[in-house]
Amino acid sequence: AFMHDLMGLSVLESQLKETLKLDNIIIVPGNSDEHEWVKQEMGKACVKYLKEHVSSDESIAVTGGTTMAAVAEMMSPFENNTKCLFVPARGGIGEKEENQANTIVARMARQAKGSYRLLYVPDPLSETSYQTMIQEPAVIDVLQRIQHASVVLHGIGDAITMAERRKTSPDIIGKLEKEKAVSEAFGYYFNASGAVVHKVRTIGIHLEDLSRADQRVITVAGGKSKAQAITSFFKQGRSNLLITDEAAAETILRDN
Ligand code: BG6
Repeated sequence: AFMHDLMGLSVLESQLKETLKLDNIIIVPGNSDEHEWVKQEMGKACVKYLKEHVSSDESIAVTGGTTMAAVAEMMSPFENNTKCLFVPARGGIGEKEENQANTIVARMARQAKGSYRLLYVPDPLSETSYQTMIQEPAVIDVLQRIQHASVVLHGIGDAITMAERRKTSPDIIGKLEKEKAVSEAFGYYFNASGAVVHKVRTIGIHLEDLSRADQRVITVAGGKSKAQAITSFFKQGRSNLLITDEAAAETILRDN
């Protein structure tokens, strides 16, 4: 049966919480690989959660991707005139303009009537450019806001899909294949056990920054094609909330 009733989805949610060892999961009906409206439903769920949990003028760090773009599309003003600051979680990481974190935070801010800061960095960045860039006052200012963000919104991708989308060099793709990379998030690539096998050098949030107790991390990722990637990411990743879809959830439960 394609469409579960609400009862069905909440059973699926509790099973998935157990499998992924996460406390909070929201599953929307459908398969976002096949229908764009499923991404928008995940986007709606994310915006609803933000409205219920963000009550002061907080900073929200956001990654790129089509899923985050769908969250931006569904964004609307917060309650009580709350004005949030939206910042890109990481530098460019090779995406098309509409999928870049910079583009997405600008749209989120416009629709939420908040503000935004941008991060202008090419990637991948050489070690020397990296060391120079992080000393630029304008970059330091944005970086501090990113590091102090109280909310982090991010997507998860299938490793090879993301590497190809980012026009990654053949030798790096070869390395990802050899190391059996399964998932990608924040420019980090992980294998099935959740170990980092490759990382794109860019500035912004690093995995180590994601364990602050006062920070809420919200993961949005769905589609049957991302089932393995989601499982892999949560072997190491922590998140206060996963928003996914029925097709990803069913596939994860079937395979684990
Ligand atoms: C990228 C994020 O831009 O989007 C990644 O930086 C994530 O961490 C990816 O894996 C997901 O993209 P999409 O289009 O599948 O939502």
